[in-house]
Amino acid sequence: MAEESESSMSKLLSGLGGIFTKVRDWIVSRSGLEDFMGETKQKKVPKHALNPVYCLGGVTFVALVVLGLTGLYLAGLYRPTVLEAQQSIQQISDVPFGFYMKSIHSWAANLTIIAILLHTLRVFITGSYKKPREFTWLSGVILLVLTFSFVLTGYILPMDERADVTRETLSGVLGGVKDIPLLGDVFGWLAGGAQEALTGAYWLHVTLLPLGGALFLVFHFYMIRKHGISGPL
Ligand code: HEM
Repeated sequence: MAEESESSMSKLLSGLGGIFTKVRDWIVSRSGLEDFMGETKQKKVPKHALNPVYCLGGVTFVALVVLGLTGLYLAGLYRPTVLEAQQSIQQISDVPFGFYMKSIHSWAANLTIIAILLHTLRVFITGSYKKPREFTWLSGVILLVLTFSFVLTGYILPMDERADVTRETLSGVLGGVKDIPLLGDVFGWLAGGAQEALTGAYWLHVTLLPLGGALFLVFHFYMIRKHGISGPL
């Protein structure tokens, strides 16, 4: 009986595998990904880059993907108003998977910060910012600024004590930008009231920052593809 169910399970798995291969081959042949995949297969990872410190950029990326996916879930339940923000965050724990999604989002944010700082340290120590990787470094610096902006705007969303401190600190440091044309339009909310600050932080957190982040990530990866990984120390 056990043998029978084992063989039907292996039949099912190999059937699924066959379907997956067919779908993948169909997508690859129709989309022109063939050339790209062929080129990727030929690229060898240099031996020195097998060291885990060369994976920190990848770890940052995976943590960002987790943040994006859990963030999408949370966005459906969070209400960005002064009166409802705190309550809606508490209510997220009452829906199925809500507590886990909230916790994973917050842990992934911590992991992103640790990984991105270690990744920056690694590329600095190995001198990977030097010619010809100036644009890789520059796009990295922009990604670093965007990541910290994610964290700071994220701190404002729960409208708790930490949100008040973050808002006050930011408006003290950046409040003056409201008088600067263009920048004032994007950051003017910092100097406004609690609701204005919450609305500004929310829209930056869920639209401008993800869009900017995606754009610079694509550029960062394009540059890494173009120049490859820098040589050993
Ligand atoms: C969203 C954040 C980031 C992601 C997802 C990311 C991802 C990656 C990945 C996957 C690599 C390939 C090698 C590795 O993993 O070490 C890499 C390389 C590189 N990254 Fe980042 N990165 C980010 C932020 C940064 C920052 C903040 C800097 C610097 C300020 C930076 C500068 C570089 C440079 C110079 C390289 C080339 C390294 C080499 O050739 O040895 N990156 N990045």
